[in-house]
Amino acid sequence: MTIAIIGLGYVGLPLCLQFARSGVRVLGLDIDAKKVSALNTGRSYIQHIPAGKINKHVRAGRFSATTDFAKIKAVAAILICVPTPLKKNRTPDLSFVLTTGKAIAAHLQRGQLVVLESTTYPGTTENELRAVLEAGSGLKAGRDFHLAYSPEREDPGNPQHRVADIPKVIGGYTPACLAAAKKVYRRAIRTLVPVANCRTAEAAKLLENVFRGVNIALVNELKGVYSALDIDIWDAIAAARTKPFGFMPFYPGPGLGGHCIPIDPFYLAWKAKQVGQETRFVELAGEINRAMPEKVVAQVGKALAARKKKLRGAKILVLGLAYKANVADDRESPSYRLLDLLAARGAVVAYYDPHVPVIRPTREHPHWAGTKSVKWNRRVMAGFDAVLIATAHAAVDYRQLADWARLIVDTRNVMAKFPTAPGKVWKA
Ligand SMILES: NC(=O)c1ccc[n+]([C@@H]2O[C@H](COP(=O)([O-])OP(=O)(O)OC[C@H]3O[C@@H](n4cnc5c(N)ncnc54)[C@H](O)[C@@H]3O)[C@@H](O)[C@H]2O)c1
Repeated sequence: MTIAIIGLGYVGLPLCLQFARSGVRVLGLDIDAKKVSALNTGRSYIQHIPAGKINKHVRAGRFSATTDFAKIKAVAAILICVPTPLKKNRTPDLSFVLTTGKAIAAHLQRGQLVVLESTTYPGTTENELRAVLEAGSGLKAGRDFHLAYSPEREDPGNPQHRVADIPKVIGGYTPACLAAAKKVYRRAIRTLVPVANCRTAEAAKLLENVFRGVNIALVNELKGVYSALDIDIWDAIAAARTKPFGFMPFYPGPGLGGHCIPIDPFYLAWKAKQVGQETRFVELAGEINRAMPEKVVAQVGKALAARKKKLRGAKILVLGLAYKANVADDRESPSYRLLDLLAARGAVVAYYDPHVPVIRPTREHPHWAGTKSVKWNRRVMAGFDAVLIATAHAAVDYRQLADWARLIVDTRNVMAKFPTAPGKVWKA
């Protein structure tokens, strides 16, 4: 079996490797020619995916990449893993999905299977995507080609969950479409979870992500409440999680980041409006989470004030630029908001991140492009008035930090394990 996977990013590339590992021949497609040539020469551009894992499959002839969509003519199935971001006005931007759909349609063959994996609102596969596929190919979904939706559940940088072991939800446009999709995914994924249709699968994915966003908002709110009551939220969570049923721990932080949790709820909220429904819960969670960087910066101000220092003119290091531990992904990272807020209040800011040596140009934060991570040593760390821990990378030596830094504001509770002088570590 040969399949094509379109969009070779954080989701598409690991999926390619899993299919290749299972003995399926995989053709990877991307519009980014640099990624394509890196892959064909066995190189990786995602830090937590070692080049060796790619190279092995390239050399064995099980994996190759291309920018040429005409090549999909020869495959059994086409899986779409392209971005689903938001537009400036925070409404869904389906342009990547629809452009990809048009590119597929021009070469679509009878009997082929097309599966959307990108996170999106319910109805996208059977309405918007189906429309471009049918219009461009002259073929009919469910009759001439199969159409399905199967959301990716990638957790980048988490070695405990291999793609093969993560159950995969699948919804088909018709029962035959579902059967065709199951036949493909069965080759690479141990547990398949068939659902009634594409929109149920789309809804399941949004439920998973909204669930995270709402629960993170809850502990972020409780952090403030408990702190005012002189209770440590981390202690409360550690105690509550001993309950063997009916509780699941979520942890507070400096705000949400990444390509999923800050973005996906807007997809649901937008669709809900189309059908005259409100999403008050979802929106409230978003509000609370987006307010976190402000609160963290206020706590930095308090910690400095306790030392008779002002934020204005203070030298502050933001530790961790990636949005989550042990990856290099800085998309939507709250660290940027922290840097912006601190700088706006007159602080002199810098960052340290072992996974992000230099900030690449981005649309969202052009003013930070080219900024380099500071070096990790005693002299540098002791030179800051405060170090603000935004991301708890395992590659950071927190014992050294406890020793070297003058003042630490910790949003991740990583310093709890290390003895420090009273007043040196502030939780935020
Ligand atoms: N990153 C995650 O942890 C994660 C987890 C679950 C689901 N998702 C969802 O998966 C989807 C992809 O996310 P990602 O993080 O892999 O994005 P990404 O930006 O890492 O990768 C997307 C890739 O698609 C390519 N691309 C864009 N337009 C294209 C086109 N028209 N044709 C071919 N290639 C094109 C880009 O060049 C890029 O390589 C999104 O819908 C996201 O919400 C992401």
